[in-house]
Amino acid sequence: MAFNRSDFPKGFQFGTATAAYQIEGHQFGGAGSTHWDSFAATPGNVVRAENGALACDHYHRYQTDLDLVADAGLDAYRFSTSWARVLPEGRGTPNQEGLDFYERLVDAALARDLTLHQTLYHWELPSALADMGGWRNPDISKWFADYAEVITDRIGDRVTSIATLNEPWCVAYLSHFLGHHAPGLRDIRATARAMHHVNKAHGAAMTRLRQMGQDNLGIVLNFEYANPADNSDKAKTAASTHDAIYNKWFIEAITKGSYPAEALEGFASHLPENWQDDMVEISQKIDWLGVNYYTRKNLAYDSAQPWPHIQEVAGTLDKNSMDWEIYPEGLHYFLTRISRDYIGSLPVFVTENGIPLDDTIENGSIYDPRRSAFVEAHFQAAQQAIAEGVNLQGFFYWSLLDNYEWAYGYEKRFGLVHVDFNTQKRTPKASYHEIKASLKPEGS
Ligand code: NOJ
Repeated sequence: MAFNRSDFPKGFQFGTATAAYQIEGHQFGGAGSTHWDSFAATPGNVVRAENGALACDHYHRYQTDLDLVADAGLDAYRFSTSWARVLPEGRGTPNQEGLDFYERLVDAALARDLTLHQTLYHWELPSALADMGGWRNPDISKWFADYAEVITDRIGDRVTSIATLNEPWCVAYLSHFLGHHAPGLRDIRATARAMHHVNKAHGAAMTRLRQMGQDNLGIVLNFEYANPADNSDKAKTAASTHDAIYNKWFIEAITKGSYPAEALEGFASHLPENWQDDMVEISQKIDWLGVNYYTRKNLAYDSAQPWPHIQEVAGTLDKNSMDWEIYPEGLHYFLTRISRDYIGSLPVFVTENGIPLDDTIENGSIYDPRRSAFVEAHFQAAQQAIAEGVNLQGFFYWSLLDNYEWAYGYEKRFGLVHVDFNTQKRTPKASYHEIKASLKPEGS
């Protein structure tokens, strides 16, 4: 692969990212039921109704998996802790087996000299809390801060950074408006509340963790380039509404304490009363920002539908196996836009970027040149942003392993390492070997 460490600033962290429900095997170790278990068990939601019960059996194989991270020459590992593993009922008595597991995991990562970046919420909400309205319930910010405290009390001394939430747009909009993720609602009032409560939960957890003396706190947001499907003013309006809901709502709340007018147009009448009172806590200072970036969307205006009147249109660029267009320029666009408009010189990390492909094993190896080209192009986009002054400090490939790709089940393969889900055998792909070769210190 055409890059090496000297192309990036000194101390730049190369890493890979995973998430608890997608790899651990939720059936093990006393974890409580989550809304993803019930969502997956409901016909029509997930391909083959697959769930995270076994996933990559990382719960038992974490040592092997961390060896794979370290053997690649990567510096850092981004992982999430599962709320329902720590607190099976979402609140109340912690599950000691779950806390012990995370302690073993972080110690094993540190023994391999990996820098750890933890995410507190990567999507599996304890069912007991979902039963009480989940992200629609304003009390969720307190429940979340309590959970943050329990897990941080156990492992907070060993992680380098903590992100409160992963991709709040998915937690709120994809899950409550589009219905594609748990809890699978399609309801604007539920969406507006979730859109606000995720921010409120972020703020409450930040406050609690600061009170505990924890530092290096941030959040991981996803960004998607909003491309008008054609030159019409209508398509431009659709793209800018998508941009407001997707790319502005969370970062504007967190860095400026406000919501974009174009998104409020649809949500304002459904937001909880006195939502403005929460904006000060929501916009408290973060120490770093995580950016997840995958693709762009082509958007047209659909007057037959109520607000936001958006119709997604197929694009013409090269696509991955989930039909997402490959658009590395978008990464450069967001890194520069975010630092210019919102965060200035605050440290930023690409916390996720990767590509699913139909990888197959031939004679024991996996040849995935499109993944290598994808990584190379996105590294170049990142380098360009750094050259223009963006304080980018690390880049995490999504993901270490092929894993549970949510509503797509196990058939979309993002990993640097192939997983045979019948045998749990791990096989590093060609891209893994190429990254390893590029990261090797010169002269070794
Ligand atoms: C973002 C999410 O954080 C992760 O869970 C998911 O697997 C990847 N995108 C790919 O869709």
